[in-house]
Amino acid sequence: MLGPVLLAASRSDRMRRIVAAAPVTRPVVDRFVAGDELRPAMDNVRALTAAGLEVTLDHLGEDVTDRATANATRDAYLRLLDAIAAEGLGKRAEVSVKLSAFGQALPVDGHDIALENVRQVAEAATAAGTTVTLDMEDHTTVDSTLAILDELRKEHPGTGAVVQSYLFRTEDDCRRLATPGSRVRLVKGAYKEPASVAYQDKREVDRAYVRCLKILMAGGGYPMIGSHDPRMIAIGEDLARRNGRQPGDYEFQMLFGIRTAEQRRLAGEGERMRVYVPYGADWYGYFMRRLAERPANLAFFLRSFVPG
Ligand code: FDA
Repeated sequence: MLGPVLLAASRSDRMRRIVAAAPVTRPVVDRFVAGDELRPAMDNVRALTAAGLEVTLDHLGEDVTDRATANATRDAYLRLLDAIAAEGLGKRAEVSVKLSAFGQALPVDGHDIALENVRQVAEAATAAGTTVTLDMEDHTTVDSTLAILDELRKEHPGTGAVVQSYLFRTEDDCRRLATPGSRVRLVKGAYKEPASVAYQDKREVDRAYVRCLKILMAGGGYPMIGSHDPRMIAIGEDLARRNGRQPGDYEFQMLFGIRTAEQRRLAGEGERMRVYVPYGADWYGYFMRRLAERPANLAFFLRSFVPG
């Protein structure tokens, strides 16, 4: 019930100010966000990779409305890729980007501006021996994001994309993307979407997730199973076996701070396990989506308001 309210709040500037100013918010944010700056984020990356996990780093930010901020996002990613190169992490550390932070939503030439910015990031990633994955945002951005993916893959074929099983269109997108060399992260979807484009019932979203996973696992691409759901993880392992895939022909992905014991268990069993590591000062939208996802996350946040 609260999920849709929190998702609406995730796009409210008024709520952003209230939540960000609450003194108790910070410790809760720290559970999901690896630091405001690059330095603590890289400390977390070192600890994760030392434990046998891989990472994809996200410099937090979204819904940028001016060109200067879009360029600043690009520059933050260039600094991040310098750090990844300096540590010699290669493919163990890749980056995830939200195109709305690169200017995609700008009213004039947003698509082209985002492409120009992200192209420079893809070039830096290739030079650092790693890859970029395009996160997926609300449904109005999907066509533009997949067109940018096609464009980037011409020169940087390792560029990946995210697809969301809650959207009706996604099975078709999976069929198109399940080709050799194509990296696809399958998630359930985290935005508030209308019934005209997306399943509203959680069971329908789960069923669609399994259908999409079957397509990706049977296809020629590289599936990335982005879920904390024990059922989806078990189905992913089973489908991998049935399709003759070895660990490393696919991977699991989970968010920083969520089911960390399970992340280590999968890595310990020889699975490739990548942790999505968000960092940066603009954590509000990301944080609110995590609260919306799960009552226990919200309860953890609300408990922090109780003294003692
Ligand atoms: P879901 O929330 O449906 O929960 C199912 C079950 O998983 C629960 O009943 C519980 O058993 C277990 N579980 C879930 N969370 C848990 C927790 N905190 N502790 C213990 N158990 C838990 N979305 C998007 O729209 N665009 C994107 O680009 C991305 N990118 C992305 C990257 C990665 C690596 C991940 C893991 C997720 C995303 N997402 C995303 C978010 C995604 O769409 C989705 O909102 C969340 O992953 C939640 O869905 P789950 O499949 O994890 O399980």
